[in-house]
Amino acid sequence: MKEKISAAFAKTFGRAPTVVTRAPGRIEFIGNHTDYNGGPVLGASIDRGVCVAVAPRDDARWRFASDYRGAIGEPLDLPAGEPARQSGNGGWTNYPLGVLAALPAFDLRRPEGFDFLAMSDLPAGSGLSSSAAIELASALAFLELTAQHPDRTTLVQIGKHAENHFVGVPCGILDQGVSGFGKADHLVHIDCRTPSFDTVPLPQGVHFWVFNTHTKHALVDGLYAARHRECMDAAKALGVDLLVQATPGALDAAHDRMTETVHLRARHVIEEIERVRATVHALQFNQLPEVGRLLTASHRSSQKLFENSTPELDFLVDTLTARPDVLGARLSGGGFGGAVMAMTGPDFDRRAANAVVDAYHQRFGACPDVLHMQTGDGAAVL
Ligand code: GLA
Repeated sequence: MKEKISAAFAKTFGRAPTVVTRAPGRIEFIGNHTDYNGGPVLGASIDRGVCVAVAPRDDARWRFASDYRGAIGEPLDLPAGEPARQSGNGGWTNYPLGVLAALPAFDLRRPEGFDFLAMSDLPAGSGLSSSAAIELASALAFLELTAQHPDRTTLVQIGKHAENHFVGVPCGILDQGVSGFGKADHLVHIDCRTPSFDTVPLPQGVHFWVFNTHTKHALVDGLYAARHRECMDAAKALGVDLLVQATPGALDAAHDRMTETVHLRARHVIEEIERVRATVHALQFNQLPEVGRLLTASHRSSQKLFENSTPELDFLVDTLTARPDVLGARLSGGGFGGAVMAMTGPDFDRRAANAVVDAYHQRFGACPDVLHMQTGDGAAVL
């Protein structure tokens, strides 16, 4: 990838990059909407991601190019200084611009001028978190360019800050945390309240398959923000800062103090937090059928309580979990479209995946993309 992006950079900007970085996408293993409620979450960094190449300029210009629309087009040429939000074709630059906007909040300097190229092998909009990948790859590139080396947690927080304050999504720390702390053949376990990060080895012989429906609810950002608000309303009614501090008993006792909808959302989060803890425990003892059961239970809770699933995602989970070679399946990420992740044994192969695709095609007249996912390492300077 380094050679490829360096060659493309030279073609676009007429010189070699001085820094090349890469950050991976992620699978949300379990812990749906637990992160911004202060709960735990498990995710895996995958072997696909976003590469960024940069070289300094001394004319106070920031020039951005990417392969996001296929061919690499004319760079977007902006004055260095205070980042301003972009729209239309240049909308993707809000991720690196958000990172630049965030740096002073962490007492870090922005580069004065640069040429920037991003290249991705992550399907965008598939729930694999291409946004966190470009944020972390950009942050590492800008920091390397200015010889600043904050710790990993700060790097992850810079990405989250960009997303929350510049892009405008009230997400938690899952995506950036997994992209930053990922390790091949491991899951990243995040205690989102602290936040603290560690890794848990993946059991041998387990495979991940991702079925990307390419469906996306038109109001996905608004729906995500609405769920976030409902969770905060529930916490308030319970007299806590974050739902991680509440118990199922406390939620039952407070039923009258919240709407039915808010109660359902809180029940999902509080039970999901328990499921993540149970998953960590089951993984320690290599209880794979139990891990699979928890994954599917998480999906059912998204479907019925959090209501962030869709008929397409439910169909995939139903079809997958009806098979003996599938241990568990669930929607992965924010929901309202996107992808389903299945954890399978070694017997599940391309032919099995095609059977699932055929069934989906018969029902919806479209085919999901199938990725046999490999795990990979976290964000790095190449
Ligand atoms: C998106 C967000 C994450 C997390 C998940 C749901 O991926 O970016 O912070 O909230 O949805 O678990």
